[in-house]
Amino acid sequence: MRNKTTKATIIEMRSRGEKIAALTSYDYLSTRMIDESGIDMILVGDSLGMVVLGYENTLPVTMEEIIHHCKAVARAHPRALLVADMPFMSYQASVEDAVRNAGRLVKEGGAECVKLEGGRRYVPVVEAIVQASIPVVGHLGLTPQSLHQFGGYRVQGKDGESAEGLLNDSKALERAGCFAIVLEGIPWQLAGRITEAISIPTIGIGAGPNCSGQILVIHDMLGINEMPLPRYVKKYDEIGLRIKKAVSDYAREVKEGRFPGMEHSYDALGQKKDRTVGK
Ligand code: KIV
Repeated sequence: MRNKTTKATIIEMRSRGEKIAALTSYDYLSTRMIDESGIDMILVGDSLGMVVLGYENTLPVTMEEIIHHCKAVARAHPRALLVADMPFMSYQASVEDAVRNAGRLVKEGGAECVKLEGGRRYVPVVEAIVQASIPVVGHLGLTPQSLHQFGGYRVQGKDGESAEGLLNDSKALERAGCFAIVLEGIPWQLAGRITEAISIPTIGIGAGPNCSGQILVIHDMLGINEMPLPRYVKKYDEIGLRIKKAVSDYAREVKEGRFPGMEHSYDALGQKKDRTVGK
């Protein structure tokens, strides 16, 4: 049986050269399945805005929404480390806001760590949250909360200057106390340089194979999300197609009176089995 994964376990995994497998989750039953399948880190990501709540991007996601889903995930008592995303505007306006909201994710949501997007500018925020005894995961590169700043979902760090900027950001986040950093949508060579330059684990998404671990959005990798997906997503299944087949089989059987059969029906004691069809 695996032991509870903590922040220390994740750091040790990097030191041992053992890759870290992370995945998003937003509900109780999925978390139980994920947790039984060897995942080390579960993220209640603000991607829930898009894959669960139907928003166009992650910007409208609120603290209440993250807390609501984090509670459901925490009720599964995952062995994996439970990280909650800090939604847009829960940490940008002030350090005080940031600490209070990080605290809510732990106290009300049951998160064990928080993740926030941004580089050097967020050093005081990271320091203050860590001071409050809450472990922090950084997030650099194509950070979706900066969508409008970037002018779209564009790979970051492609030129020398922005690559240097991200390298310096990663060092600053490590110094500020982050215990891991998500690297999203950056060239694999830069992700490799960053991973070499810092001693904390890097968790890549669209950042190539040279990170300490990888994370994907569960709906994307299971093939539930039918939107066009970025090239970094590998679909491990086509569950969306299988769900549609199962649901259309069910609808057809109901309409044809073939479901429920007697094996799915209760029998009154002492009464003859009688099937009335078509009412
Ligand atoms: O919100 C999210 O799911 C994320 C991951 C994609 C890293 O931030």
